[in-house]
Amino acid sequence: MTGAVSLDRVMQGDCITVMKTMPAGSADFIMTDPPYLVHYRDRDGRTVKNDDNDAWIDPAFAQMHRVLKNNSFCVSFYAWNKADRFIEAWKKAGFQMAGHIVFTKKYSSSARFMRYEHEQAYLLVKGHPAAPLSPPPDVIPWSYTGNKLHPTQKPVGIFTPLLEAFTKPGDIVLDPFAGSGSTLVAARDMGRHFVGIELDEAHHRTASTRLASKFSQPGIAQSRFRQPIIVQPVTSKFHTPDTTVDVHDNMPFMAPAAQVLKRAATAVRPPRPY
Ligand SMILES: C[S@@+](CC[C@H](N)C(=O)[O-])C[C@H]1O[C@@H](n2cnc3c(N)ncnc32)[C@H](O)[C@@H]1O
Repeated sequence: MTGAVSLDRVMQGDCITVMKTMPAGSADFIMTDPPYLVHYRDRDGRTVKNDDNDAWIDPAFAQMHRVLKNNSFCVSFYAWNKADRFIEAWKKAGFQMAGHIVFTKKYSSSARFMRYEHEQAYLLVKGHPAAPLSPPPDVIPWSYTGNKLHPTQKPVGIFTPLLEAFTKPGDIVLDPFAGSGSTLVAARDMGRHFVGIELDEAHHRTASTRLASKFSQPGIAQSRFRQPIIVQPVTSKFHTPDTTVDVHDNMPFMAPAAQVLKRAATAVRPPRPY
C-alpha cells in the first residue's frame, strides 16, 4: 500500500475517510466484522460505535470494493436479522456473494424462539477470482474469548482457514472495522501484511498494543481448524486440539435442557407475536 496508508499498523479514524486516501486495488483480501445494526449492548453496558445506524454501510462497502484488488475476496460478518440491509449494500458496491460461513458455538449467546449458537459471514467476490486450490469448510468452530479486549471480540483462530485459502504470505489484508484487531493478529501470525482502521480511540489503542506485542496476548497460537463437516478434509498447520469454550458477545447463556423442558411444561402460554 502506498501514499497515506502504511502497512502493518492500525489507523485511528472513520474507515470511509481513511479508505478514500488508499489507492484503488491496494488490498489483496478484506476480512471484516462491521457493526451489526442491532443497538448492541452487553451486560456490562458496553456498546459498539455505529451499531445504531446504517449511514455508514453503503459508503463503507463502496470504498472496500474500490480498494480491493480485482478478482479478489472479501469476508464480511453480518447480523442475521439485518441480512437484507447488508446484502443490499454489498450488491450496490459491486460485490457478488460466493459463499456463506457459519461459525458454530458450543453455547447459546441468547435464547428466545431459538437458542442462538452461531455467528455468520458471507464470502464476497470482486470480479472473477480463481477458486482456491484447497477450499476451506463453510462451517468453522468458534472458540470462547471472554470478550476481554472488545465487547464483540472474535477469536483469532476462526480466521486461519480463510486466510490460508484466500491469501498467500506477503499479501495485504485489510480490516476497516478492526476493533481489538483479531483479524489483523491472525493475518500477522500467518505472515501476511495487515492494514487496520478503527474509529474508537480505546479500541484503536487495544489493537495497536496487541499488534505491537508479539507473544503476550489472548488468541495467539489458538488457531484451530477441524476437519470440515461437508467438504473434503483440508490439512492445516494451524490445527490444534479444541480445548476452549466459545464466544461472541455476552457470557455463555446457561439454558440446560432440563430447565427449558420444565418451564415449557409448567407455563402454558399462547405464542407471543413479534
Ligand atoms: C463488531 S466490532 C469489531 C470487533 C473485532 N472483530 C474484534 O475482534 O475485536 C466493529 C468495530 O468497528 C468500529 N467502527 C464502527 N464504525 C466505524 C467506522 N466508521 N470506521 C472505523 N471503525 C468503525 C467500532 O468501534 C467497533 O470496534
